[in-house]
Amino acid sequence: METRRRRRAVRLLTAAALLWAASFAAHAGEVEVLHWWTSGSESRSVLELKRLLATQGHTWRDFAVVGGGGDSAMAVLRSRVLAGNPPSAAQIKGPAIQEWGRLNVLADLDDVAAAQKWDARLPAVVASVMKVHGRYVAVPVNVHRVNWLWINREALRRTGARAPTTWEEFFALADKMRHAGIVPVAHGGQSWQEFTTFESVVLGVGGADFYRRAFVDLDPAALRSETMTRSLQTFRRIKDYTDPRAPGRDWNVATAMVIKGEAGMQFMGDWAKGEFLAAGQQPGRDFICVSSPGTSRAFIFNVDSFAMFRLKDPAATRAQKALALTIMQPEFQESFNLSKGSIPVGSGVRLDRFDLCAQESSAYFTATAMVNTLVPSIAHLMAQPAPIEHAMREVVAAYWNNDRMTPDEAMTRLVKVSRPRP
Ligand code: BGC
Repeated sequence: METRRRRRAVRLLTAAALLWAASFAAHAGEVEVLHWWTSGSESRSVLELKRLLATQGHTWRDFAVVGGGGDSAMAVLRSRVLAGNPPSAAQIKGPAIQEWGRLNVLADLDDVAAAQKWDARLPAVVASVMKVHGRYVAVPVNVHRVNWLWINREALRRTGARAPTTWEEFFALADKMRHAGIVPVAHGGQSWQEFTTFESVVLGVGGADFYRRAFVDLDPAALRSETMTRSLQTFRRIKDYTDPRAPGRDWNVATAMVIKGEAGMQFMGDWAKGEFLAAGQQPGRDFICVSSPGTSRAFIFNVDSFAMFRLKDPAATRAQKALALTIMQPEFQESFNLSKGSIPVGSGVRLDRFDLCAQESSAYFTATAMVNTLVPSIAHLMAQPAPIEHAMREVVAAYWNNDRMTPDEAMTRLVKVSRPRP
C-alpha cells in the first residue's frame, strides 16, 4: 500500500517536472549580444550575465569585438544593422542610444521597466539616456567613474611621497618615480586612451563648469581659451613620463604594468580596478585609487548599457526581456560590478561587499550630482554623438603624438571640428 502511494507520488512529481520543463523550453530563446568586454576582468564579468541567463533557460550567443573603448564594436554593429541583421542586444551608450532609437530599430522595454520600477530606481541622469520619446529602449548596467589615478603602492612607498592631489604634486611624484627607475605613467597609445587622459586633465585644470562648457556645450570660447591652453600644456607634460613602447598598447596591458610595479601610475576609468582585482590585488594594500589631480570634487561618469533591437521571433524577444530583467536585478548588479570595477546603477543594491574605491565612487556620484559637478565622459561617448567625439578625439591624439603641434593649432582644430554641420 505504502509502496503504491509512493510510486504514484513519484509519477505525479515527474509529470509536473516534465510540464515545467516543457513550459520552460517554450519560453527559452537565444540572445546574441554584441559587446567589447574582452579583457580578463571584463570577460569574467560577462560570464556572470551568461550564467544568470542560462539559469532561466536562455542561451547567450557571444558576439565580442575586441577593442577597448568600443570603436571596432560600433563599426561592426553599423554594418550588421545596415545588412538587416542586427544582434538582439548591443553595448550602446550615451547619445548613440537616441540615434539608433530615432531610426526606429530598437525594442520597447517599458513593460520590463514598469515591472522593476526603473523610474524610481534609476538616477534621472541615467534614466533619461536610456529613453527615446519617453520610452525605455536600453538597460543600464553600471556606473564607471573615469577620473581616477591608479598608483602602485610599493612604487609610491619607494618614493616616500604621498598620493598627489594637485598637478604640482603629481609631476613631483612622477620625477621621483623616474629617479627610482620606474616608468611613472603607464600609457596605452590609442586615441581613445589619450582622450580619456585628456578629459581628466581638462576637469582637473578647468573644473566641472569649464569641462561642461567645452565638452557638453562645445562653446568655442571655452575650446579656445587660456584654460584650454593650460590643459593642453599639462597634458603634453604627462607624455614625458610615459615609455617609448606606449604606442598601440592596450589599456589592460598598461594596467598590468602598474600591477607588476613596472610603472607607477595610470590614468584610467575604474574598469582598470577590475584588472587589479582579477590579479588578486587589493586597494590600499597593493594599489591606491585617487581622484586624478584637481578632480576630487567632481565625477566624470560613463554608464555602460545594452540597447535591444526589435526582433520578429517571439522566443528571441522573450530572451531579450529576460536579459534586461536580469541586468537590473540586485543580485546581478552586485556580482557583475564587484568584478567590473564599477558601481551598481539602480538603488536597492547593498555596497558592503564593495571595496573602498567603489564606496568612494558611490558617495561621490550622489554628492557631485547635488552640487552639479557630475559630468558626462566625452571620451566614452556619453557627451557627444560619435562623429563629433571622434573628430575631437583625433585632434587631441594628433596633438599628443606630434610635439610640434602648438596648443593654439590644436584649439583652432577643436573649434572647427566641433561645429554643428550645416
Ligand atoms: C567601457 C568599459 C570598458 C572600457 C574598456 C569603456 O568605454 O565603458 O565598460 O571596460 O571601455 O574597454
